[in-house]
Amino acid sequence: MCCETDISLIADESVILQQIFEIMIKSHIKGIGHYVPDHIVTNDDLAKVMNTNDEWITERTGIKERRHRENRNDSEITTAYLGMKASERAIADAGLTAQDIDYIVFATLSPDYFFPGCGVQLQHMLGCGTIGALDVRNQCSGFVYAMSVADAFIKTGLYKNILVVGAEIHSFGLDMSDRGRGVSVIFGDGAGAVVLSATEDENAGDILAVNMHSEGQYAEELCTKFPGTKYGWSDRLLREPDAVTADEIYPYMNGNFVFKHAVTRFPETIKEALDKAGKTAEDLDLFIPHQANLRIAQFVQKQLGLSDDQVFNNIQKYGNTTAASIPIALSEAIEQGRLKRGDLLCMSTFGSGFTWGSVLLEY
Ligand code: COA
Repeated sequence: MCCETDISLIADESVILQQIFEIMIKSHIKGIGHYVPDHIVTNDDLAKVMNTNDEWITERTGIKERRHRENRNDSEITTAYLGMKASERAIADAGLTAQDIDYIVFATLSPDYFFPGCGVQLQHMLGCGTIGALDVRNQCSGFVYAMSVADAFIKTGLYKNILVVGAEIHSFGLDMSDRGRGVSVIFGDGAGAVVLSATEDENAGDILAVNMHSEGQYAEELCTKFPGTKYGWSDRLLREPDAVTADEIYPYMNGNFVFKHAVTRFPETIKEALDKAGKTAEDLDLFIPHQANLRIAQFVQKQLGLSDDQVFNNIQKYGNTTAASIPIALSEAIEQGRLKRGDLLCMSTFGSGFTWGSVLLEY
């Protein structure tokens, strides 16, 4: 009898604590920044090295140009380096210094090393203290997954200022021959970063809803197979270097299959986020889809009945920068006055894994 009473008291207490956290601590975007390499690669530039053309790329993807690091084999302009440049801007925008950051979440599919991840690189490059640094491996959904981690850490009171980064260097690993044209024309380099901070200010914005999903049975519909424990690693490369095929070392994408899943999952995840927060698509001031393909974004816009003013796309300039695409777009949307404090924003994604999800927030 005595024990039963104790357990119910503990249960009540945890519910109350949860409610206190939810009421008092908000996850607020305090600063944002992005950085892309200067080197612009147009569709016509690509047509000089592979059998493609501006018309095909524009019609199917909306992309007109993307950024690549100048030297394909540069060992200094790395993913962590791009992440650092974006982070410096985000930290300055937040009015903070690197010493104020107490945790890093770094999303990328193109890390500097096979291991360790880019988070620790960034901790060192920025000169932060010996703070924790986590890498998120969720490809195009990396930034949404990373924001959800940061939001949870802030809402539970664990950290106050979390640097959430999405960065990629794709250009070093794309097949620039005719064989790779279905993939290589789509992807670009870049980085975006957000400082997500804890606040109790009743006027500050907050993350209102988050959802994440996955379907791992489709892993090989969009993936790079090598190196890994399934298709081989250094041992295989040393033993039989000639047997490692282009199909394994370059990214593979079943474009049509990805497209069909994306146009189903995008509306689902957006609706799930809106429903959870008691909002509708009409309430949205801005929707930022992961910049996968302009045709996907336009399809989703139509499905949700959103006006052009409610949607932000910049894939035309950067291509698909996977984990970096949403924070780059968010940063540009704010720069251009498309998103203001107090506005309702939904950021949604779909990508390799398959993974998909949304973050709905008041900016
Ligand atoms: N330039 C010119 N022709 C190209 C080409 C290129 N860069 N890439 C492929 N082609 C050719 C193909 O070889 C094929 O030729 P064929 O008919 O003679 O065999 C033809 O164009 C059609 O190819 P297909 O792959 O069926 O084109 P598509 O209409 O499916 O468009 C994508 C390809 C990749 C643009 C499209 O499938 C897509 O956007 N999918 C979603 C991708 C995505 O969003 N990925 C990111 C997820 S996070």
